[in-house]
Amino acid sequence: MKSKLRLGVNIDHVATIRNARGGIYPDPVRAAKLAAAAGADGITAHLREDRRHICDDDIQRINDEVEQPLNFEMAATPEMLAIALRHTPHAACIVPEKREEQTTEGGLDAVGGHNHLKPMIRQMLDAGIRVSLFIEPDPSQLDAAVSLGAPVVELHTGRYADLAGEAREAEFARIEAAAAHADKIGLECHAGHGLTFDNVTPIAGITSIVELNIGHFLVGEAIFSGLDSAIRRMRSLMDRARAEAEGARSA
Ligand code: PXP
Repeated sequence: MKSKLRLGVNIDHVATIRNARGGIYPDPVRAAKLAAAAGADGITAHLREDRRHICDDDIQRINDEVEQPLNFEMAATPEMLAIALRHTPHAACIVPEKREEQTTEGGLDAVGGHNHLKPMIRQMLDAGIRVSLFIEPDPSQLDAAVSLGAPVVELHTGRYADLAGEAREAEFARIEAAAAHADKIGLECHAGHGLTFDNVTPIAGITSIVELNIGHFLVGEAIFSGLDSAIRRMRSLMDRARAEAEGARSA
């Protein structure tokens, strides 16, 4: 069976530009609608504790005004849990969050955080939210996701994106093995962070990955070619990589 590869467009950095000046321009909700029209299957937004980009009202408006499902990225805190339960987005991705970091720097520790995460995940699942955990491509973290009851994992591709040469190939092999392991133990597998036109093809060719979440590069590229064109090109690179991988598998 062919596996469709979904694209979740992360609109955080449209809000970063807005917040640089205060005010209301550019509007991340307008970007979300445009992303949907350009082929995004979902919208991803990270409400950080310090509200450095997306703010509470953006989440409300995305939920109210955008048809595509929202993937709400959140730290495992009581405040974010309450917000998730209030909005009941389609999905919530639990990410580690450090106030001083520039971006989400590593995966969540699903092994060490078991007791803290388990009740939170249960409450969100009971509210009908599809919970995913943003983790390193490490089998012990995947196994922990299963024991926590999370149906989905998102593999952190940030190291893969930052590395080059043999080191990148080694990290790619780790991601490929983790995606196969996820499949074997019944987890839906997503991936994201640091993906660009230049590095997306091998990741999109891993057929057990069903969703990529991509943001910073697309918003940056939009400066040069427009958001619509950047998303359409990403979509087409992903679709081509997936079709080739499926073709190679069935040959
Ligand atoms: N997935 C998760 C869980 C993230 O935290 C982020 C960054 O907010 C992304 C995907 C998107 O990463 P990037 O902005 O580098 O494309």
